[in-house]
Amino acid sequence: MQDRGQWSSKLGFILAASGSAIGLGNIWRFPYITGANGGGAFVFLYILSVLIVAFPIMITELVIGRTARKDPVGAFLKLSSPRSPWMLVGALGVLTGFAILSYYTVVAGWTLAYLVKGVTGALAHTTHPAIIFKTFAANGTAQIFYLFVFMALTVFVVAGGVKNGIEKAAKILLPVLFVLMLCLIAYVMTLPQAMKGLHFYLYPDFSKVTPHTVLMAMGQAFFSLSLGMGAMITYGSYIGKKDNLFTSALYVTFFDTLIAIMAGLIIFPALGGAPAKSGPSLIFIVLVEVFQKIPFGQIIGTVFFILMIIAALTSTVSLLEVVSAYFIDEKGMNRKKAAVILGMITAILGIPSALSLGANAWFTKLKFLSRMDFLFGNISLTLGGLLMCLFVAYRWGLKDFMEGLSHGGTIHERRSFRWWFAIAIHLICPISIGGMLLYILITGNTLG
Ligand code: TRP
Repeated sequence: MQDRGQWSSKLGFILAASGSAIGLGNIWRFPYITGANGGGAFVFLYILSVLIVAFPIMITELVIGRTARKDPVGAFLKLSSPRSPWMLVGALGVLTGFAILSYYTVVAGWTLAYLVKGVTGALAHTTHPAIIFKTFAANGTAQIFYLFVFMALTVFVVAGGVKNGIEKAAKILLPVLFVLMLCLIAYVMTLPQAMKGLHFYLYPDFSKVTPHTVLMAMGQAFFSLSLGMGAMITYGSYIGKKDNLFTSALYVTFFDTLIAIMAGLIIFPALGGAPAKSGPSLIFIVLVEVFQKIPFGQIIGTVFFILMIIAALTSTVSLLEVVSAYFIDEKGMNRKKAAVILGMITAILGIPSALSLGANAWFTKLKFLSRMDFLFGNISLTLGGLLMCLFVAYRWGLKDFMEGLSHGGTIHERRSFRWWFAIAIHLICPISIGGMLLYILITGNTLG
């Protein structure tokens, strides 16, 4: 058997998993989805989703991964029976990984392009940020170029194996990102429109809540924490038997949520209220506006885009890692070959998304990128999460689950934990996710 590799330590895992979780989902997706879904009430629902639905599923994925020590498809087979239909949950995950990676890399490419623009002075205040974005988005060649460059970076890290690249990148990224974001928050708070922005962002107006809002909040929680498609199963499969899974999950969830909330604390005070139109371009416009105004804006902007690139890279790596792990573990492919071939295929699949913000009329009209994001980044992840808790609750069984959790910790011995987890996995998660998906299915409302 091939040596599967392992994280160097518990901290190594926390860094790598935080690196997977923290990415464009926090800095790009969270602010614009919040903007499009009413602000404060959405943020409230988001935090609620993280705590009561996503967190138990994070633990679930990690335990499944560490127990099976396999890619998502192999894990479900190993924990049920050979040829069991439960392996379809893993297969759905691998498929979803492909799909998310395809458009995610497009946006990651934007961060790369903006770094180049920042360094060369193309973001200077002579041009309005909205125009800069529009021109860039309409340039098909540039879109495809940056998509492929970013994919090449991703392939490079994944080909190098688990420990070498991912852990180290996250170790530098997280502290620097945190401090820089704090500075930006401090700055935007001094702007005259800051209070109005904070009001929109933090004051919950529940009259704006619809089932669609709830779906978006839950989807965002899954997306941001890299849940619902087996990324945490895969990362969990590289955790040692002595590490405490519960506290690891707690740290990752905390850091990820913190960074998302902080991103909102930059964007909305800078914006001064609800965005007129909130879409994928939002942060690229608002942030550049900020960098155009502040002293040393070019330097700060450059550093910020470098951090965004690292944050996005540790996430694209985790997506490609899931897909590759499947072909490595199940099909016996060699790691380098898997990373290169799958990266290429996914980059090609990303082309329609890359052309959908103005470069190609047809894909633009279809809102291809947003639609992919809704379908795979929301529906597919929540569905995956639902199936995983049904798997633990009704197929694998809580007894084996607790045994898997027991290595490296004592939390499973607490009655309060056992009760909470049993209720979460049997009732709260299935009913909330299932109910919501059913509602969407029946009413057929909501598509992008
Ligand atoms: N969580 C990452 C982010 O917020 C994106 C991501 C990486 C992801 N791996 C994932 C999302 C797996 C869903 C599933 O940017």
